[in-house]
Amino acid sequence: ERTSARLLIIGPPGAGKGTQASRIAERYGVPAISTGDIFRANITGGTELGTRVQQIIEAGELVPDSLTNEIVQDRLAQDDAAHGFLLDGYPRTVDQVHALDGMLDGASLDAVVLLEADTDEVVARLLKRAELEGRADDTEAVIRHRQEVYSEQTAPLIELFSKRGILVSVDGLGTVEEVAERISAGLDARLAATAGR
Ligand code: AP5
Repeated sequence: ERTSARLLIIGPPGAGKGTQASRIAERYGVPAISTGDIFRANITGGTELGTRVQQIIEAGELVPDSLTNEIVQDRLAQDDAAHGFLLDGYPRTVDQVHALDGMLDGASLDAVVLLEADTDEVVARLLKRAELEGRADDTEAVIRHRQEVYSEQTAPLIELFSKRGILVSVDGLGTVEEVAERISAGLDARLAATAGR
């Protein structure tokens, strides 16, 4: 397997990014790095970072770019990310894209998986998760707000990655296995296309 892939997964809240990220990471032998998971671990652990971001996350707002960029920069500097990574939930704003470009120091991303799912489906998934796991930002009002924030601030990134020729759009509906197979097929094709460059 190729072990130098620099990958992102992007899509609306509830599209299945986290679910698929661990599978993709294992398949391509790279660490999955989720900014949401990093923030939640800090909230649970009661760290200073956790205290700073808790209210923002519970309101479904975005953590300020400067703080988020700093956390990702530190994480990408760790040894396990030296030969590739899969970012989940980052970048989420145009400013974060530019910050990431700077962190990669001229190296380009290999592929961006866009996981597509309509609003009714993702809201239903997150309401179900609210019942099962009680994630603090999975109340109906906050779920709706997270969708709006995605539409306004993150959806514009899709065109940007499309223009770079690295976007792999995948239908996120169906079983987890079905979606995983679509992602693998799309990524394999995309990575084969870039391998010769
Ligand atoms: P983050 O953790 O990134 O949350 P999100 O984008 O809202 O995404 P979710 O984790 O809710 O959904 P997902 O797409 O990962 O789907 P999942 O696999 O979990 O961010 C949380 C917050 O942190 C943000 O609101 C912000 O405050 C902050 N933050 C994070 N990154 C930031 C950044 N870069 N800048 C600024 N702030 C940032 O699946 C959802 C549910 O559906 C699960 O229950 C799952 O089991 C189920 N499911 C998955 N696939 C399927 C399927 N195929 N069929 C049926 N159910 C499925």
